[in-house]
Amino acid sequence: MALIRGKKLIIVFLLILGTFIYQAMSRALLEDSIYGHNYEDNAEKEKRFNIFKDNVEYIDKVNNERNRTYKLSVNEFADLTTEEFIATRTGYKISSQPTSPKTTFRYENLTEIPMTMDWSEKGAVTPIKNQGHCCVAVVEGVTQINSGNKISLSEQQLVDCVEGNDGCNGGFMDYAFEYIIQNQGLATKENYPYQAMDGTCGQQMASNIVAQISSYEDVPSNNEEALLQAVAKHPVSVAKEGSSRGFMFYSSGVFTGECGTNLNHVVTAIGYGMSDDGTKY
Ligand SMILES: *[C@@H]1O[C@H](CO)[C@@H](O)[C@H](O)[C@H]1NC(C)=O
Ligand SMILES: *[C@@H]1O[C@H](CO)[C@@H](O)[C@H](O)[C@H]1NC(C)=O
Repeated sequence: MALIRGKKLIIVFLLILGTFIYQAMSRALLEDSIYGHNYEDNAEKEKRFNIFKDNVEYIDKVNNERNRTYKLSVNEFADLTTEEFIATRTGYKISSQPTSPKTTFRYENLTEIPMTMDWSEKGAVTPIKNQGHCCVAVVEGVTQINSGNKISLSEQQLVDCVEGNDGCNGGFMDYAFEYIIQNQGLATKENYPYQAMDGTCGQQMASNIVAQISSYEDVPSNNEEALLQAVAKHPVSVAKEGSSRGFMFYSSGVFTGECGTNLNHVVTAIGYGMSDDGTKY
């Protein structure tokens, strides 16, 4: 009897201790390594801690699911709710989507499609950048593929000089490509440096062009085969919803979680293939 009670006690004690250690660890993580975030007061700190704890629980839950092809991890967004993340990081709405010139899809008859493609391995992709890079990356890729020259182009030029643009949103893609055609090209990153904010267009810097495109077109929508054909030829700008909780904490692997269709984020598709566990990406 005493033994059983002792066991129960121990189990309860271990559970409490476990919870305590877990909370202490979360708290330590929050205080030491939430990426240098400072909180106004204890109330704010407590609120952030609870959001953080909730996010850590979500991350653990997903990471423990069977058949999971991707991994989540704590990152600098872990003390934000999904709503706050959407508001601060992907707040761009595709409002007035300009209509692209309607052409036939130039790769529709492309049949020689390699099994895998990674344009970064082929040297056609410069390091990941932030706002504005979605369109710049495509021009950089096409330039490298056509000329062999790997040049970092100016995303700030697009942020400053493209009218009707409040950032790198979906409509922005079309406006950006139109601008590049009209300006007859883009300057280098060195000649028109990144400032991570909207500025006024530096005409002088903008006229220092090094790479250009003559046209662009939309890949037929809701058509995976067409996207495959296009990415087989060069990197492609892609609008997506970038605000699901899974996407917020994505860390590695093939993301098969919830995606959504509220397009508010633009990325560059730089390849495709199949992972070791047979998941196509
Ligand atoms: C895992 O995937 C396999 C194959 O698709 C499926 O048969 C199985 O039911 C899945 N298991 C779980 C736990 O979802
Ligand atoms: C693809 O092939 C069809 C049939 O031969 C042809 O009508 C069409 O113009 C081709 N498309 C392009 C973009 O070359």
